[in-house]
Amino acid sequence: MALNDLLHWRYATKSYNGAQVEQRKIDTILEAIRFAPSSSGLQPFKVIIISNPELKAQLQPLCCNQQQITQSSHLLIFAAWDQYTPQRINAFFEYSNAIRNLPSSVTDDYRLSLLDSFGGMSREQQYFHASRQCYIALGFALLAAAEAGVDATPMEGFDNQAVNALLKLPEQGLNSSVLLALGYRDAETDWLVKLEKVRRDKADLFVEIV
Ligand SMILES: Cc1cc2nc3c(=O)[nH]c(=O)nc-3n(C[C@H](O)[C@H](O)[C@H](O)COP(=O)(O)O)c2cc1C
Repeated sequence: MALNDLLHWRYATKSYNGAQVEQRKIDTILEAIRFAPSSSGLQPFKVIIISNPELKAQLQPLCCNQQQITQSSHLLIFAAWDQYTPQRINAFFEYSNAIRNLPSSVTDDYRLSLLDSFGGMSREQQYFHASRQCYIALGFALLAAAEAGVDATPMEGFDNQAVNALLKLPEQGLNSSVLLALGYRDAETDWLVKLEKVRRDKADLFVEIV
């Protein structure tokens, strides 16, 4: 499908048929997440992949009882770093320089400036910054899912603290940001699939300065 057709085919699925998504398709979606850009390349998040039905059932009441949680094949939890520690930043630059076969001193100026700017932010600001990187990866995942013919629902309708506690995210220095349900639509029961897509008019959305 051409990009424009994919954009119209995909929608925030409300009802799944319970079928499993093939592992190769899941892998493609995860690779899109892995290759999404992020600020300074830090990729300040982890993605937790849940296919276990019991765990999804435990999560559902924490997610406004949304049926996509249990009907989905896989549920991805984008969990942002709860803070940018010097250890995390330094480890990234060590990793990056080792892959590129560069001496660590090459990035010292930039690394120190990042340590300085993140050090000047509150923990909440650091989490918000990391969380924004999750949303970029979410966008990549949504498009990759559509390209693979997999339906998806981005989801913010959940109790962040309760999900954190269930998955023991704070113990891992993580804080849940956004969810992504994956599966195959049940076109018979999904009320949204038949409705026209609503988007603001181009003239209302774009401001062109020439
Ligand atoms: C960040 C984000 C959070 C969302 N949270 C939910 C959610 O909790 N449950 C849900 O059914 N849809 C959720 N949606 C879906 C949006 O309502 C939907 O994407 C929007 O209305 C546009 O419709 P479309 O995706 O079908 O084109 C969310 C979408 C985004 C991007």
